[in-house]
Amino acid sequence: MKILIIGSNGQLGSDLMNTFQNQAIGYTHKDIEITNLDSVTKAIGHEAPDIVINTAAYHNTDECEDDPEKTFSVNTIGAYNIAKACRKTGSKTVYISTDYVFDGSKKTPYTEEDTVNPLNIYGASKVAGEQVTRILNPRHYIIRCSGLYGLTTSRKGHNFPDLMIKLGKKRDELKVVKDEVLTPTYTKDLSEKIKELVETEYHGTYHLTNTGFCSWYDFAEKVLEEMEIQTNLKPAGPDDFPKKAARPKYSALDNKNLRKTGIKEMRSWQDALRDYLTTKYGGKE
Ligand SMILES: NC(=O)c1ccc[n+]([C@@H]2O[C@H](COP(=O)([O-])OP(=O)(O)OC[C@H]3O[C@@H](n4cnc5c(N)ncnc54)[C@H](OP(=O)(O)O)[C@@H]3O)[C@@H](O)[C@H]2O)c1
Repeated sequence: MKILIIGSNGQLGSDLMNTFQNQAIGYTHKDIEITNLDSVTKAIGHEAPDIVINTAAYHNTDECEDDPEKTFSVNTIGAYNIAKACRKTGSKTVYISTDYVFDGSKKTPYTEEDTVNPLNIYGASKVAGEQVTRILNPRHYIIRCSGLYGLTTSRKGHNFPDLMIKLGKKRDELKVVKDEVLTPTYTKDLSEKIKELVETEYHGTYHLTNTGFCSWYDFAEKVLEEMEIQTNLKPAGPDDFPKKAARPKYSALDNKNLRKTGIKEMRSWQDALRDYLTTKYGGKE
């Protein structure tokens, strides 16, 4: 099998490259511009891969509010171009989506059957990206994930555990949001699960995350505890971190469709985090 990974030097893309090893062909932003149909058609036509995994995105949620044109261009038109080119070559399309497609009004984990209702421009562009992928290529996997961190830092510049470690060592007090609940997900685990899934013919929409859920505050607390970093952790107030984009208060994802395939769910977010910290920092500081 030949797997074309777009965004291959990104956070998830790097782990996918490691997971698929010699089956993988990596394209960075230097090799492909997904907003340009010609660039996409040439690349996919040239490689004629069995599967295209698109990890490329414009996903700085607050910046997206100010630049809807770029947001929809990368996240929606990019998805359109890729799905269209894949249909020509008969390749499967994997589109990476997000928990931000939901509005957070639910109080139990969202399943794939729940209605999407994004609160921000980023989420809206991802819903549209999902939709064009479904329309253009029936051989698709829409994969919604959440709170990613990995050994290759996101192109956004930081990941949450690393930031907590850096700030926790520097400051006596740390404030972190307690009223947003998610499932932190290690990109190594996610990429391994993506591999298992795309090797099947079970096309469709999937929630893929580590298991369990927590608030950003709980996530920070666990990082600091595992690393034995002493700082005074406090819940942030509503005015501590004013944000342009509204975010769902609750976006844990139930991996229901994955269970239906018979593929095993991922380990708990706590076990995944411990593995990440041990690999990256050798455990406790
Ligand atoms: N990070 C999270 O917490 C999170 C949560 C839920 C869902 N997701 C989704 O998961 C996916 C992977 O996220 P990530 O954190 O791995 O992203 P990332 O580290 O920012 O990597 C994205 C990659 O895409 C490339 N890229 C961006 N725009 C492009 C374009 N127009 N044409 C071609 N390549 C382009 C980037 O290259 P340059 O940097 O050189 O432009 C980078 O290599 C994204 O679809 C994101 O929406 C992320």
